[in-house]
Amino acid sequence: MDKPLPDFFNDRAVIDDPADYFGRIRAICPVQREPYQGAYMVTGYDELTELLNRKDEGISSCLSVLGPIPPLPFEPHGDDIGAQLDEVRDRLPWSAHLVCFDGARHAEHRTLITSLLTYRRIRQNEQYLRSLADRLIDGFASEGQCNVVVRYAHATTTFAISDFMGIPESDRAVLLEAIGAPPSQIEGDAQAKVGPDPLAALKDLFDGYLRERLERPRDDLLTELVQSKFRNGEDVPFETLSNLARFLFGAGQDTTSHLISMAVRILAEDSDLQERLRVEPARIGDFIEEVLRFDPPVKAAYRLAVRDTELAGIPLPAGSVMTACLSAANRDPRRFENPDAFDIDRAGLRDHIAFSRGLHACPGAPLGRMEAGIAIERLLARTKRLELDETRHGPPESRHFRFVPTYTFRSLVDLHIKFEMA
Ligand code: HEM
Repeated sequence: MDKPLPDFFNDRAVIDDPADYFGRIRAICPVQREPYQGAYMVTGYDELTELLNRKDEGISSCLSVLGPIPPLPFEPHGDDIGAQLDEVRDRLPWSAHLVCFDGARHAEHRTLITSLLTYRRIRQNEQYLRSLADRLIDGFASEGQCNVVVRYAHATTTFAISDFMGIPESDRAVLLEAIGAPPSQIEGDAQAKVGPDPLAALKDLFDGYLRERLERPRDDLLTELVQSKFRNGEDVPFETLSNLARFLFGAGQDTTSHLISMAVRILAEDSDLQERLRVEPARIGDFIEEVLRFDPPVKAAYRLAVRDTELAGIPLPAGSVMTACLSAANRDPRRFENPDAFDIDRAGLRDHIAFSRGLHACPGAPLGRMEAGIAIERLLARTKRLELDETRHGPPESRHFRFVPTYTFRSLVDLHIKFEMA
């Protein structure tokens, strides 16, 4: 008999190897209730895209970041828990931030963000990203080794979003320290440590930036944010601007940082692929897409059934929590041929769901892709050879990596490489 499924939400074995867990639970059923928190794990590609694309009010994103932990602070009654949810909504973890909003409120706040993330503005950042990558590489070039997570990936994403938003250079090093890795979610941490506004520690600093722009507008994104209006012409309350600014700053950091780290990890294990991408840098975009499919930075997002509903014929009573397993859908063999192989030549490279789908699909995806693409392009161009530091990660037959203990994100604690400069 197969060994029992581990607890997705608490077991370190799943944090180290989510693909094994996802493969096993998908094989039982693409929409399967797990026994520990009672969450419905949606692991099939078609089932997940159906769920994420649903626009009806019966599905809520109010638990998007943490899912079933902590549990809803009420016992669901009947076939519609909308009124019960409204009473507690503002107390739920992350409730101050866009990713947990629903309906018309979500749409009007999301527009404020998407109107800032224009193609023109993102492209304007390209030159800065190249010089940033070179500056960071200069910082460790002479050492022949480095911890990529801290000195390259994480530094890239904090400096990149800071520059993108118009945050003063003098504050960026402090912010790099303040942001750190995503917090642990296991062993009670999700329950005890996360409130409605986990980004509150940045509030004074960011409110200061916004007030400055209200008094003295500049040519930057923060100024555009404070000058924005709702679609009906109404002013946006200061508290709303404050929450949006901090969420925009935080949302793309660890995610993009993990993408860069995972991309370097894959390259450091595959010298042929390194060589190929050095010769054909135009394929780096495809490489990044395959990293996003193969091991995405967000393993799962969560949804709540506000009304009785069903998915793929499985009834979901009001109050059910659904785990939208993005990593699992990306390796669904019904959608991707030979899904456990890393292959930049596969058909449908961009069909992955790493950026979610539907109403909450990531509006920062073009920026995240560009940051990662440039970071990899510069690292390959500046080095002749990259490899894993085996004193830290072990020999090929028994590699070991440390991941931050969270069930939502997939985040390397460290990644040590050795390299020879070109
Ligand atoms: C590789 C990098 C990134 C990945 C994998 C990623 C992934 C995601 C995912 C999966 C969601 C949707 C969660 C859900 O459906 O509940 C999301 C939402 C979001 N992301 Fe990203 N993201 C990345 C980079 C960025 C960047 C660079 C920014 C900002 C510049 C950003 C800003 C946002 C925002 C504002 C939302 C909320 C959208 C909404 O709720 O309507 N992300 N991201």
